[in-house]
Amino acid sequence: MTSRIDTSTAGDANHASIGVSLPHESAGLHVSGEALYTDDLPELHGTLHAALGLARHAHARIVSTDLTAVRAAPGVVAVLTASDIAGENNCGPVLHDDPILADGEVQYLGQPVFVVIAQSHTLARRAAALATSDDVIRYEPLEAVLSIADAKARQSFVLPPLHLTRGAPAARIAAAPHRMTGTFEVGGQEQFYLEGQIAYAVPQEMDGMLIYSSTQHPSEMQALVAHMLNVPAHNVVCECRRMGGGFGGKESQSAVFACAAALAARTLNRPVKLRADRDDDFTITGKRHDAAYEYEVGFDEDGRIAGVRVEIALRAGYSADLSGAVATRAVCHVDNAYYLSDVDIVALCCKTNTQSNTAFRGFGGPQGALVMEVMLDDIARQLQRDPLDVRRVNYYGVGERDVTPYGQRVEDNILAPLTDELLATSQYQARRVAIAAFNATSPILRRGIALTAVKFGISFNVPFLNQAGALVHVYRDGSVLVNHGGTEMGQGLNTKVAQVVAHAFGLPLSRVRVTATDTSKVANTSATAASTGSDLNGKAAEAAAHIICERLAGLAAKQLGGTAQDVRFADSAVHANGASIPFAQLVESAYLARVQLWSDGFYATPKVHWDAKTLTGHPFYYFAYGAAVSEVVVDTLTGEWKLVRADLLHDAGQSINPAIDIGQVEGAFIQGMGWLTTEELWWNSDGRLMTHAPSTYKIPAVSDTPAAFYTRLYRNENAEPTVFRSKAVGEPPLLLPFSVFLALRDAIAAAVPHAKRAPPLRAPATPEAILDAIDALGASPQEQEHQESNAAGAVTPPSPKTADTTA
Ligand code: MTE
Ligand code: MOS
Repeated sequence: MTSRIDTSTAGDANHASIGVSLPHESAGLHVSGEALYTDDLPELHGTLHAALGLARHAHARIVSTDLTAVRAAPGVVAVLTASDIAGENNCGPVLHDDPILADGEVQYLGQPVFVVIAQSHTLARRAAALATSDDVIRYEPLEAVLSIADAKARQSFVLPPLHLTRGAPAARIAAAPHRMTGTFEVGGQEQFYLEGQIAYAVPQEMDGMLIYSSTQHPSEMQALVAHMLNVPAHNVVCECRRMGGGFGGKESQSAVFACAAALAARTLNRPVKLRADRDDDFTITGKRHDAAYEYEVGFDEDGRIAGVRVEIALRAGYSADLSGAVATRAVCHVDNAYYLSDVDIVALCCKTNTQSNTAFRGFGGPQGALVMEVMLDDIARQLQRDPLDVRRVNYYGVGERDVTPYGQRVEDNILAPLTDELLATSQYQARRVAIAAFNATSPILRRGIALTAVKFGISFNVPFLNQAGALVHVYRDGSVLVNHGGTEMGQGLNTKVAQVVAHAFGLPLSRVRVTATDTSKVANTSATAASTGSDLNGKAAEAAAHIICERLAGLAAKQLGGTAQDVRFADSAVHANGASIPFAQLVESAYLARVQLWSDGFYATPKVHWDAKTLTGHPFYYFAYGAAVSEVVVDTLTGEWKLVRADLLHDAGQSINPAIDIGQVEGAFIQGMGWLTTEELWWNSDGRLMTHAPSTYKIPAVSDTPAAFYTRLYRNENAEPTVFRSKAVGEPPLLLPFSVFLALRDAIAAAVPHAKRAPPLRAPATPEAILDAIDALGASPQEQEHQESNAAGAVTPPSPKTADTTA
C-alpha cells in the first residue's frame, strides 16, 4: 500500500510539540498488548461475573417469570429482575423510556430481562441462555413493528417529527425547468468497537460504588447508576482509562451494562463484572439509524437546485435514546456542501420493535448528507452532465448563497479551493477520460469515478453540552499530570491534550502524563462525542495550564528580573530578562514559596445557540471540510468490485498532530465505506437480528483499503480561535466515502450507457445490490416497474442467506 503521509513534521516525545506527528500516547502499549482495557484490570478478590437474560420476542407481554431453573444452574449466585431495582429502572439518556431490565413487557428481541450473577463468565452466560426456555419466562406475543415502512404506516414514532422549512420550496419546484422525485434507502451500521461493552462495578463503603466502564460518557454512567441505586451522585465514581473503540456506540448504550453490573454489585456487596459477548452486544445494543428517503427537487439546465423537499425516515428502534439529536443533525446536514435557498426537510424517528438505534460516527450527519449527494447524482444523470459539475454549481458561495437552511451563515467556506486542489492532485479530469476509454472497450469490467465534498458542522447541537473541564497537577519534580473530562477511544484525544499542556509549559511530551477519565476529578462532563473532544478538553486543559504558568511567571520574574508578562516557557526552562531557569527548579522553588502548583480549567464554546422549535440558530461553532475522489472497478457479471484508488483531502484546520489526524481521516473513510458497501444488518421476520457476528456481518478489513490511498490534510487554519486553530476531525471524514458509493453508481451507469437515469443502487451496495441495480437499469420500462416494486417491498435484503451462528 502506498500512503503519502507527510513525514517532514514527524516529531519525537522529547521535543515540545504542536503541529508535529507524534505517535499516539499509547501506541506502544496498543501494539505490545500492554494497554489496559476494562477487562484487563486485575480482578479483586471475590469478583463475580454477570450475564444478561434476553427477551426472545420482538414485542410481548411477560405473563409469568419462574427463575428457579436459572438460579439452580451451575455456579449461579443470584438472579435479579426489575423488581430488585431500588431506584429508577431507566438507562435512557434523554427520555426515561429505556428500562435497564424489561418490566411487564418486552419491546425488542434481545432486550435484557434479568441479570444472572455466577462464579465465572461462562457459567453466567450458560445460565442466562435459559431465558430462551418457555418454563422460565412465559410471553404473550404482541404485534411487532419491524420496519420503517411499517412504522410510518402506523404513525409509530418515538418523538414528534422534526420540520425545517425555508422559502417557498413547493412553488420553486413547480416553477423549475426540471423536476424529479425519488426514493432512496440506506442501511444501518453496527459500531463494531473491537472491545465490546463492559462494566466492572466495585462496591465501596457507605453505599459508594466505583464503576470501571468502557464508556464515552462517564458522567452519565455515574448519574444513571446513582438514580438506579437511589443514592446521591457523589456516592458513585465512574472511571475509564481507555476504550477499544466507541464510535458512538458507548455514548449512551454503555449504560445498561454499567447499571446491571452496579445493581448486582450492590445487591451482593461483591465486585461484579459484566462483559457482553459479541453476539449479545450486537443483539442488545443499538446501531446507526437506517433511513428511507422520499425527495422532490426542482432544478435548472445546469443542475442548480431551485427548491427541494426531503423526508428522512430514521429507524429509531424501540426507545428514543439519542434519536432526537441524531435526527436534528440529519436535518442540519441535508445541505452538506450545497446552498439550498428553498427547502422543506422532515425527519421522522420511527418507533420499531428493534434495538434502540443510537450515535454512530457522524451522528445522523451522514444520513442527512447522503440523500443530497444521491439527488445531485440523479440530477446530473438526467441532464447528462458530469456529477462533479452539478455539485460545483450548487456549492455554497463566499459572501453570497452562504446561509444554511437553519439560518447559520457559512463564514469559513473553503470548498472551491479545496476541490481545485484535489482535482489537480488526483488528476480527476485525465482519469475521467481514461475511464471512459476503458469502459468503451471492456466487455465485463466497468470503472467509475466520483468526487464528493463534505461540510460538517462542529459542536454539539444541544448548546449546553459544549463545555468541558480539566485538572492539571504539577509535581515538585516538574512532571505534569493531566486529567480532563474527555475519554480516550483510540482517536488520540489524550495525546493531543498532552501536547497542548506540554506546549503551555514548554516541556517535552514525555513530562506530561494523562490519567484515566474519572468523575471524581472532573465533574459534570459531556460525552466525548460530536468530534469535540480536543476542541473542548484541549481548551480546558490549556486554561488550567495557563493559570499555573501565570503563577510561575510571577515567581520567575522575581527571580530573573523583568515582568511576568515577558516570561516564556520553552525547552524545559523558564526564560525572562535574558536569563533562564530550569522548569523543575522553578517549580520546586514555587512549592517552597507556597505557590499553588495545580489548577482546574474550564471551557465553554462561544457563539453557539439553537432554537429547537424552529430548528434555526447557530448550532455550530465552525465547519470542517473535505473532499475525496474514488475510483472503482465493478465486475458486471458478479457484482463484485474493488476500490482502485482513493484521494482524500481533508481540513483539520491547523493540525495539532498530523499523524493522528491522518489516521482519523483514513479510518473514517474506510469505516464509512463499510457502511455504504459491505455492512448489512438483517433481521428475520420474528425481529431477530441474524447478522450478529463477524461471520455474517462484514466490516472492511485492511485488504479492502485501496492499493493507491492518498490522504492529505488541507493547509488551513480555523477561522475561529480554537485550540491552536485546529479543527475537529473525528467524524467529518466518515462522509468522504460517499465518493465510493457514487463511483459505484458511475460504473453501473457505464454498464448500461443508454439508460438516461441514475442507477437505482441501494446502500449498502453489496454485490447483490449492484447486480439488482444493473438489471433494473438495463430492463425495459415494464420490467423496470416490476423489478422496482419487488425491490421496494424489501426493506431488508430479501435473501435469507444468513444463518444463526450463536455458539
Ligand atoms: N477513532 C477511534 N480510533 N475510535 C473511536 O471510537 N470514535 C469517533 C471518532 N474517532 C472513534 C474514533 C467518534 S464517533 C467521535 S465523536 C470522535 O472520534 C470522538 O473523539 P474526539 O471528539 O476526541 O474526536
Ligand atoms: Mo460520536 S457518534 O459523536 O460518538
